[in-house]
Amino acid sequence: MTSTPLADRTTAVAARATDLSKIYGQGETQVVALDGVSVDFQQAQFTAIMGPSGSGKSTLMHCVAGLDSFSSGSVRIGDVELGSLKDKQLTKLRRDKIGFIFQAFNLLPTLTALENITLPMDIAGRKPDKTWLDTVIEMLGLSGRLGHRPSQLSGGQQQRVAVARALASKPEIIFGDEPTGNLDSRSGAEVLGFLRNSVRELGQTVVMVTHDPVAAAYADRVIFLADGRIVDEVYEPSADAVLDRMKRFDAKGRTS
Ligand SMILES: Nc1ncnc2c1ncn2[C@@H]1O[C@H](COP(=O)(O)OP(=O)(O)OP(=O)(O)O)[C@@H](O)[C@H]1O
Ligand SMILES: [Mg+2]
Repeated sequence: MTSTPLADRTTAVAARATDLSKIYGQGETQVVALDGVSVDFQQAQFTAIMGPSGSGKSTLMHCVAGLDSFSSGSVRIGDVELGSLKDKQLTKLRRDKIGFIFQAFNLLPTLTALENITLPMDIAGRKPDKTWLDTVIEMLGLSGRLGHRPSQLSGGQQQRVAVARALASKPEIIFGDEPTGNLDSRSGAEVLGFLRNSVRELGQTVVMVTHDPVAAAYADRVIFLADGRIVDEVYEPSADAVLDRMKRFDAKGRTS
């Protein structure tokens, strides 16, 4: 058996998009949502994706997470090319390796909070790591709400259930589309701090879309999208540096 040397492991790629394009519609109504995006998401790195509304952030995440098809280019998760997979294999890879926190939470209304959190593992026939599950639930302040259904929870609580669901199975990579968008600043800071710790201490890989420079400052790197292209990148971002960069997008979302 061969093992990856530590030096390689620290620079290993958790996910990679190469010359990725996504075109919706045809002719007059055609929208180029992604226009030749190439990007690496390193293992154990926390990346934020920012850019104006409509710049392609959600599309990029959905394509890289295997939730949406793309028009051209390639995507790989770890060593696996998504384009080479059959539907069933793709579903399995998504279930086993990817955690997703959606812009809408996608909780099942008939299940309790706890059942929603463990659903992906239940489907996969995997037993949750009880200690870790308790840690996640405790950190997200959900202990007293585990028996409630989504309709009995506030928006912020539903979002925290969605965050817990993504974290619970310790997936290889977590994608979050504005995972703190519905939280007050204190709960948001707790969730972001927890995500950052899971990157630093457990080597979790996290990719997060956000509009909030303060949230982006929790990441190790911010990439900026405009018109379906990556137009800039900042490492070790401060909220001020991110805000300054965002101000350089004009009202139509183009970059100057
Ligand atoms: N199903 C679809 N059919 C046609 N066009 C679409 C579809 N989904 C997205 N688009 C278009 O693709 C572009 C990128 O959309 P996307 O949702 O990725 O933007 P976003 O950066 O996530 O924006 P927001 O910050 O508002 O969530 C937009 O112009 C959008 O209108
Ligand atoms: Mg979006």
